[in-house]
Amino acid sequence: MELKEVVREKYGQAAQRVKDGSRSPCCSASACCDGSVDPITSNLYGSDETKELPQEAVLASLGCGNPTVLAELKPGEIVLDLGSGGGIDVLLSARRVGTTGKAYGLDMTDEMLALARENQRKAGVENVEFVKGEIENIPLPDNSVDVVISNCVINLSADKNRVLREAFRVLKPGGRFAVSDVVTRGEAPPEVRESMLLWVGCIAGALEEREYIGRLAKTGFESIELEPTCIYDIEDARQFLSGEGIDVDAIAPQVEGKFMSAFIRAVKPSGKECCGPTCCS
Ligand SMILES: C[S@@+](CC[C@H](N)C(=O)[O-])C[C@H]1O[C@@H](n2cnc3c(N)ncnc32)[C@H](O)[C@@H]1O
Repeated sequence: MELKEVVREKYGQAAQRVKDGSRSPCCSASACCDGSVDPITSNLYGSDETKELPQEAVLASLGCGNPTVLAELKPGEIVLDLGSGGGIDVLLSARRVGTTGKAYGLDMTDEMLALARENQRKAGVENVEFVKGEIENIPLPDNSVDVVISNCVINLSADKNRVLREAFRVLKPGGRFAVSDVVTRGEAPPEVRESMLLWVGCIAGALEEREYIGRLAKTGFESIELEPTCIYDIEDARQFLSGEGIDVDAIAPQVEGKFMSAFIRAVKPSGKECCGPTCCS
């Protein structure tokens, strides 16, 4: 099956589990839903954020960070969430940008879009639009968005360069890229990398942090920053990896400090020539 179809099927089933009420508040990784708490997707949002959201939006959260907090959204801004899933970050963004702003959620999976639209209805938020499409081919015009956010989705794309180019295209000059994603640090033997990324759920593989920064720079972004938000511990993955027949103790030393979620920030150049202390304000 083509990679995209595997991803679509996986997240279609995840949306269905939330709809059926069978999803426990855990996990994006292939293992976990055994009552334990998933270290990747849990505790990402504060109770002040979740209390105003429909329970299904919270249960459908499959991210690995909280990009809306880190993106510093302002009233009146237009936000686009790449791979919006059940819509949690879109609904939170919509509140932050207020009625003069707007939040778009883009997702390719019909079941996720249906769940997100239902969550929007329950939340009673109007400045939101969920759009069907692929993050490699964003169905929005050039220079139309103030902030692109995304939560644990770019790692699922087999064409990450194209996703970055599309994000750059739709951003207005001076627009911000503010994304949570899984990244790796330094080298790890291919079989170790494969096992850990399977645990995290990164079907298409995660970028090494310097590679991510390099690709953003090559796309044209500036002011690039990458900040780890959670470094994964091999013990969190022990049960899953053992179930896959992997000798966890043998690979443990090569995992230490190498697999993490991170917040990645960058800016599309404003195109303004800075000519003096006041002219660029
Ligand atoms: C890991 S979930 C994250 C959902 C959401 N961002 C969150 O934090 O809960 C990945 C979501 O991205 C969507 N997705 C994955 N690859 C995509 C692509 N190439 N284009 C559009 N959506 C995609 C999936 O359908 C799924 O809803």
